[in-house]
Amino acid sequence: MNAAHTDTLLQVRAARRYGTLSPLRYPGGKASLAGFFADVIEALDLTDPTYVEPYAGGAGAGVALLVEGHVDRLVVNDFDPAVHSFWVAATEHCEALCALVADKPLTVEEWRRQKAVYRAADDTDPLALGFAFFYLNRTNRSGILNAGPIGGVNQTGNYKIDARFNRPELVRRLEAIGERAHRITVSNKDGRSIVQEHASDPNAFLYIDPPYLAAGGSLYLNAFTHRDHADLAATVRAYPHGNWVVTYDDAPYIRRLYEGEAVQSYALYYSAHRAVRSTELAVLSPSVSGVVATGHADAG
Ligand SMILES: C[S@@+](CC[C@H](N)C(=O)[O-])C[C@H]1O[C@@H](n2cnc3c(N)ncnc32)[C@H](O)[C@@H]1O
Repeated sequence: MNAAHTDTLLQVRAARRYGTLSPLRYPGGKASLAGFFADVIEALDLTDPTYVEPYAGGAGAGVALLVEGHVDRLVVNDFDPAVHSFWVAATEHCEALCALVADKPLTVEEWRRQKAVYRAADDTDPLALGFAFFYLNRTNRSGILNAGPIGGVNQTGNYKIDARFNRPELVRRLEAIGERAHRITVSNKDGRSIVQEHASDPNAFLYIDPPYLAAGGSLYLNAFTHRDHADLAATVRAYPHGNWVVTYDDAPYIRRLYEGEAVQSYALYYSAHRAVRSTELAVLSPSVSGVVATGHADAG
């Protein structure tokens, strides 16, 4: 997915661009916003910034910001027990996780085993559940957890089960996280309580990327109701002095929830299924909107 822009859209053109640094595949992941966030955080002149993702998933942008040294601390929160287990494993059992990534066979037989671990959803063993989640995330078609393996169960497709499992590269990305584990806080609360914990910290920047209104397929836990979206909007809007960005699919309901805030459209290219451009919404807190409007964040 690449950020793109037209004259009428928010120009998500950052001063810097980073490669993919998160070990997880997230269709629609927001790693490409990392450069833009780096510019915003610099323009806000935060001291030892804490970057907070209350709906983290692969925390694509957050990992890039930490590894590239733009933020001091990372708060990674996800309500999904499997996603949370992955982050616990990556930060607390990194060596063991890397050993599994280096050695586990990439076969349909192993895929079935990991799928059974994932389905059992036993989060008392975060290494096992976190690795199962990671394995399926890297071997399933489009990274969608309910999809079959790349190449099909008979491995007759052009791409095989190992197509997205470059062991040395994935170990490298995991080690980059493990080395910085002391600066990463992992939790599995409801996203709104994370917003409440951090939004009044003047040195925190919150990137809020909840399940979309029209969350398609089984990309991630997406049991968000209209009520949940409304509650989140009320929570976020209670912090007008916070530094936050919320992204969403472009829908009249979401525009209504954030009416009166700085709501901008921006365009993204998704690669999960095919290269379709979709226009999304970014809601900017007054402080973020201020640095973007004055051009200090080099967003245009
Ligand atoms: C759109 S994804 C985030 C993608 C992420 N920004 C990235 O770049 O990889 C939304 C995430 O929110 C999580 N989630 C769903 N409901 C939640 C809740 N109530 N509290 C916290 N996380 C939740 C899902 O498990 C999913 O991983």
